[in-house]
Amino acid sequence: MRQKIVVGNWKMNNTIAESSALASELVAALGKGFSGCEVGIAPTYVALQEAGKIIAGSAVQLVAQNCHYENDGAFTGEISTGMLKAVGCSYVIIGHSERRQFFGETNATVNLRIKKALAEGLKVILCVGETLAERESEVTSKVVTSQVTEGLAGISDISTVVIAYEPVWAIGTGKTASSAQAEEVHLLIRNTITKLYGDAAAGKLRIQYGGSVKPSNAAELFAMPNIDGGLIGGASLNAADFAAIIKAAS
Ligand code: G3P
Repeated sequence: MRQKIVVGNWKMNNTIAESSALASELVAALGKGFSGCEVGIAPTYVALQEAGKIIAGSAVQLVAQNCHYENDGAFTGEISTGMLKAVGCSYVIIGHSERRQFFGETNATVNLRIKKALAEGLKVILCVGETLAERESEVTSKVVTSQVTEGLAGISDISTVVIAYEPVWAIGTGKTASSAQAEEVHLLIRNTITKLYGDAAAGKLRIQYGGSVKPSNAAELFAMPNIDGGLIGGASLNAADFAAIIKAAS
C-alpha cells in the first residue's frame, strides 16, 4: 500500500510573513501528531527558511519549487541544491509546466536538475502533463511518456522520486480532470515506469494528481487506484482547504 503524498505549491505567492502564518495555520490544523499521509509545502525561495523553522518537528516537510543543476557560480537568479538542503528542504519540484511554458525548461534540463537533486540527497517531484492543444490532438500519451522517459534518463534508482501528473489545461482553471481522465494517465505513467524499472519500482512509485484539486473533488480523485495524492496550487493557499484535501488523502 503506497502512503499518499500531498504537497502545496504556493508558487510566486505570499510575503515571508504570510508564508510563515500559513505554515503555522497548517501545522495547527493538522495537529502535531498528524500521520495520515505525507505532507509538504513549497513556499517561494525567500520564505523557505522561515517557513522551515515553523514546520520543524511537525509532519509537514519543506519543498522547493525548482533547483539548478550546477553547484554554484555565474548563474544569475538560480538556486543550488546545496542552498536548498541548507535551509531544510527535503523535496524539490522539477519540471513544473509553468517552468516549461515560461522559462524554457525541457525534458533534457529537467533530467539534469533531477540528477543533481538526487545526488544532493533531495527527493524529487517530477511534473509531467499535456497542454490542451496536445490533448485535443490526441498526443497526451506520447507527450507524457516522453516527459517521464526523458526526464528519468540515466537514473537507476527512483525510490525517492514522486511523479506529479498535472494536465496543463486543469492548472489554475477550475477545470479539474475527471477522476477517470486522471486515472487513465496515471495508469499510463505507472505502466511506463514498469517498462523502465520493473513491477516492484512501479508499485512503490507515488503519482500525484495536480490541476484544480479542491476539498470538493479531492476524495474522488484520491480514491482512484493509481492516484497517490495531489500537488495543490490555489487551494493550498488556504490552510483550512489544504488541510481538508490532506485529510481526504489520509
Ligand atoms: O503544482 C500544482 C499546481 O500547478 C496546481 O495548481 O491552482 O490548479 O491547484 P491549481
